Amino acid sequence: MRIGILGSGLMGGKLGTIFARAGHEVVFSYAQTEEKLKKLAREAKGKARAGTPREAAQDADAVLLAVHRLRFDDVLRQAGDLSGKVVLTCSLPMNEENTALVVGTTSSGAEELAKKVPKAKVVAAFNTVPSEVLFGVYEAKRKANRPSLVYCGDDRHSKEVAAGLIRDVGFDPVDAGPLHIARYTEPFALLVGQLAYEGKGGPELAYRFERF
Ligand SMILES: NC(=O)c1ccc[n+]([C@@H]2O[C@H](COP(=O)([O-])OP(=O)(O)OC[C@H]3O[C@@H](n4cnc5c(N)ncnc54)[C@H](OP(=O)(O)O)[C@@H]3O)[C@@H](O)[C@H]2O)c1
Repeated sequence: MRIGILGSGLMGGKLGTIFARAGHEVVFSYAQTEEKLKKLAREAKGKARAGTPREAAQDADAVLLAVHRLRFDDVLRQAGDLSGKVVLTCSLPMNEENTALVVGTTSSGAEELAKKVPKAKVVAAFNTVPSEVLFGVYEAKRKANRPSLVYCGDDRHSKEVAAGLIRDVGFDPVDAGPLHIARYTEPFALLVGQLAYEGKGGPELAYRFERF
């Protein structure tokens, strides 16, 4: 698959690298220096390159939006028309200081994003785990008990794409339902962040749902 990364920081940089290592064609875009994008592309070692947001989005089968919500308008303007595209978002609707959610209970960051790109097919995914765990999950991919990863969205095809990419990273995808369920997954992401960054044992934390 061709995947455009819009925002090549902690999440976009790592997920793009893993997608490339898993065999996808990746375009890294939107960082403060082009050098960073080129370095990511070089080090990903797969079919990866650096580009502009427009180049990342243009021919992509899916784009990953991985920026602070305050950068949405800028990156979306640079990406151009996303009509019909699968847009995975790992973004959380945080305040400028990244200390609290600014959207919740009656809407979610994912729904607010979907309003900005009404013709795109938005799926919220990868937002409930810290970036620090991603490479570890990928390396442990062949183990029997994969960690879970919740995702939600309104479009069946884009959710299938999301589930495939979630599997490629090494998680067990858990379909949480329509996009408005992001009202639950986004605060849950803050719980996982609390345990990862404030709990004992370090931030390389994922979770697994089990039925008994
Ligand atoms: N980090 C996590 O563990 C985590 C977990 C779950 C969800 N999330 C969510 O995922 C989203 C991305 O988080 P992140 O931690 O990956 O953020 P990040 O590391 O700050 O990455 C954001 C990217 O946007 C780029 N950027 C920022 N301002 C820019 C500008 N003016 N022009 C061009 N590029 C610019 C940054 O460039 P530079 O790289 O050059 O700075 C970086 O590549 C956020 O919404 C966050 O809430 C993060």
